Amino acid sequence: MKGSQRLNSLTPRETVVELDRYIIGQADAKRSVAIALRNRWRRQQVEPSLREEIAPKNIIMIGPTGVGKTEIARRLAHLAQSPFLKIEASKFTEVGYVGRDVESMIRDLTQLAVNMVTKEEEEGVQGKAETMAEERLLDLLLPRPSGHHPGMSPSPQPNIIPLGYDSGAAKSEENRDKSTRERFREMLRRGELDDRVVELEVASSGGTPVVEVFSASGMEDMQSSLQEAFSKFFPKKRQPKKMKVSEALEFLRKEEAERLVDTESVTEKAIRRTEQSGIIFLDEIDKIASRGGSSSGTPEVSREGVQRDLLPIVEGTTVTTKYGPVKTDHILFIASGAFHVCKPSDLVPELQGRFPIRVNLHALGEEDFFRILTEPKNALIKQYIALMATEDIHLVFEDAAIREMARIAVQVNQRTEDIGARRLHTVIERVLDEVSFDASDREEQVFTVTADYVRTQLTEISQNEDLSRYIL
Ligand SMILES: Nc1ncnc2c1ncn2[C@@H]1O[C@H](COP(=O)(O)OP(=O)(O)OP(=O)(O)O)[C@@H](O)[C@H]1O
Ligand SMILES: [Mg+2]
Repeated sequence: MKGSQRLNSLTPRETVVELDRYIIGQADAKRSVAIALRNRWRRQQVEPSLREEIAPKNIIMIGPTGVGKTEIARRLAHLAQSPFLKIEASKFTEVGYVGRDVESMIRDLTQLAVNMVTKEEEEGVQGKAETMAEERLLDLLLPRPSGHHPGMSPSPQPNIIPLGYDSGAAKSEENRDKSTRERFREMLRRGELDDRVVELEVASSGGTPVVEVFSASGMEDMQSSLQEAFSKFFPKKRQPKKMKVSEALEFLRKEEAERLVDTESVTEKAIRRTEQSGIIFLDEIDKIASRGGSSSGTPEVSREGVQRDLLPIVEGTTVTTKYGPVKTDHILFIASGAFHVCKPSDLVPELQGRFPIRVNLHALGEEDFFRILTEPKNALIKQYIALMATEDIHLVFEDAAIREMARIAVQVNQRTEDIGARRLHTVIERVLDEVSFDASDREEQVFTVTADYVRTQLTEISQNEDLSRYIL
């Protein structure tokens, strides 16, 4: 239980505050996902017999393109430190047809969790791995002091000093070896040996024969486990390879980190994390909803089939993955779609019941765009300022210039196609086109973007509908 508490203990209010740092507006959506996240945690706290009775409270986000649906879900997952998988519902086909079966998303999610936990664990042993890598590298650079020294025959009984043996000389030789090693260690740490070449044993990648298995739906896992089985029959060959000290250090550090991490406990943790805190973002759910009843032809039938396949997973079932069985009972599903032509009520009733939280996202206006450009922690304006700073150019945006970009973005969205906040990316890129091109040759240190400058860069294009279709 400790795990789930650590992972999901944010209250809805705290969640919203965090989301506010990245996403502008869409207060309702933030509120709803915060509730959904908390509901899962609440359900996990309920005593088991009652918990079974409580259905999962998943969520559908409805809204036009580019208004923050994916962004909200992604940030939410990040906050909750959850493994997060985004997948288009339209990618799935009914079991038995060519395409991906719905269970594959649980396998993918588990894989993500395994990668996530492995990375964390490797970070945890980083210090130790570094020390060990350093020792191994020093062994390569110079032979071990005492005992293993080729020039000195090791005495069979170390306690008995042979007659006539000058113990003082032996000591001083040992000391010399030690101090050489220490000297090398310091040089190594200062990076003075980086360009030297050493020879290491590395696992050769071409050692395992590649086995092609016909990969139909449901077979993906079989393919990978077969491949694994084969690599056991043909253990990886190790070959000597020359590399620079700097590369060798990195290589050994990685190898040591991998060795220090216990695979079994990683798997166990990853499965627990998938089950208790996983989030699956089902994009384009509207594409598998069927309009006007279910009896109007094959495509409809197949869509409904996918919905029926989804049901058990959303409700709670056990999926076999190569890491072991994974229960889906507490995985949070966030579905999303524009729902232009159909409505959530066009989904099969059971699925509607599993997604009881509905929320609408609003189309974004000029004021929103202005704020999106400037406010979020990762705001576009901040990004471009940082990019230009790498060229020693101090980029300055006047407020009026940012307003002008927001205004033009809205205009282009209206005249051509509404792609929401994504329009800002093309607009700003176009405005900065010239600076971006000759940033490296510029004399002046400061470049100020004024409203006039924005207009000169954009007006011609934004007035011409055909041009804007291609460029903005
Ligand atoms: N409300 C917002 N606040 C901040 N940034 C936003 C907002 N809405 C969209 N963006 C930015 O616009 C881009 C597209 O947003 P997002 O991927 O969330 O769109 P979407 O709603 O999922 O659209 P689609 O239906 O096409 O998938 C992202 O880069 C995101 O940062
Ligand atoms: Mg999206």
